[in-house]
Amino acid sequence: MSILITGGTVVTTEGTMEADVLIEGEQIAAVFTPDASSEVVVDEVIDATDMYVIPGGIDGHTHMEMPFGGTFSVDTFETGTKAAAWGGTTTIIDFAVQPKGSTLLATLDKWHEKADGNCAIDYGFHMIVSDVNDVTLKEMDTCVAAGVTSFKMFMAYPGVFYATDGEILLAMQQARRTGATIMMHAENGIAIDQLVAQAIAAGRTDPVYHGLTRPPELEGEATNRAIALAKVAECPLYIVHLSAAHALEAVAEARDHGQNVFAETCPQYLYLSMDDLARPNFEGAKFVCSPPLRTPEHSAALWRGLRTNDLSVVSTDHCPFCFKEQKELGRGDFAKIPNGIPGVEHRMDLLHQGVVAGEITLSRWVEICSTTPARMFGLYPRKGTIAAGADADIVIYNPTARQTLSVATHHMNVDYSAYEGMEITGKVAVTISRGRVIIADGEFRGSAGHGNFLSRDLNQYLI
Ligand code: URP
Ligand code: ZN
Ligand code: ZN
Repeated sequence: MSILITGGTVVTTEGTMEADVLIEGEQIAAVFTPDASSEVVVDEVIDATDMYVIPGGIDGHTHMEMPFGGTFSVDTFETGTKAAAWGGTTTIIDFAVQPKGSTLLATLDKWHEKADGNCAIDYGFHMIVSDVNDVTLKEMDTCVAAGVTSFKMFMAYPGVFYATDGEILLAMQQARRTGATIMMHAENGIAIDQLVAQAIAAGRTDPVYHGLTRPPELEGEATNRAIALAKVAECPLYIVHLSAAHALEAVAEARDHGQNVFAETCPQYLYLSMDDLARPNFEGAKFVCSPPLRTPEHSAALWRGLRTNDLSVVSTDHCPFCFKEQKELGRGDFAKIPNGIPGVEHRMDLLHQGVVAGEITLSRWVEICSTTPARMFGLYPRKGTIAAGADADIVIYNPTARQTLSVATHHMNVDYSAYEGMEITGKVAVTISRGRVIIADGEFRGSAGHGNFLSRDLNQYLI
């Protein structure tokens, strides 16, 4: 099957160009100046006049079917990857979750069982290490050889995923041996749990107290500590779902000193706030995630961080729990609300609003949503660019179309939208995954099982 995309504006990190893109089979075969493609004979021509032609989005942080808070996130690999495709994301990297007492390799097998044959787009895994011991430390090397080159650890959630500083140091030392990256959920969970217990004992049980008991200082403190541990262990560090200006300052300082420290933020921290957590009638539960939503000054700092590259990636941390029966588990006790916000479908559109509002350039949009995640997670140049030889993961994006985000129209398997009623400028017209058109004319044309597992190399930014 060959496809020629004509008349569009190709956007890469280098800038924009009027060019036609030839796809042969699963790869991009050529990028032509428009008149140079007139002789080419293909099976299908797609007219992209007045549209952007961009590399497919790479969402480096999702949780499909994740066991958490006594329940499971509600998107399966099938529903979640289909929703991603609707929103212009052609690769996800999901977190395999080691239950305490289990091994990393058994966990990896389990995540393959859940995902293989079910994904509509390509996918990779990170590994959550919940149990640090001699066996799991050795298994980290086997994971790297199997293409899982990043390991998430938690300074939050004592009794669940929490690791001590000593355990973190050991895992970082192990990661250093192979060049793997440690990803950190950086919140001081020990201090937070005291604040949570005090709030509940005082009858402060509404969702807003989830935010008030997780102050930005405790994200800043944990981020500084993670950076110090990584420096001692000489290990690459990637701070996940960074939400607080305090944490961003720590990352910026480490990067200024040349340390291999990287960070992502998520759309919810750019567009939602503590005011959403404070919505009445338990509606705030829809916005419970950790770290929590913050005040607008933090969001402004995050946009700045995206411009200065102290934040290099925007991922979704897609972790959908229905309001009914799941978020409702925490009525009367905010600490029992499952943590997580749905968003895998909306990242490209939400960040395009940053272009529309003048917060970031068009090229930066492509960089933080696709090219940098590809490099950060060892997938470049197979993914994350429009160039001959790359996988034909391409999105044709209509920058002037209008849409309103809503549970009534989204494709995620969850009963609310965190962005209900938000008006968006821009919309995906066509999504192509490895040379196959999977979204076009408002229809899903892909299939569960089209997506392949991606064995990843190491972080390609290491210095
Ligand atoms: O609230 C969140 N972020 N839920 C997903 C799990 C995690 O910590 O990433
Ligand atoms: Zn986390
Ligand atoms: Zn997460």
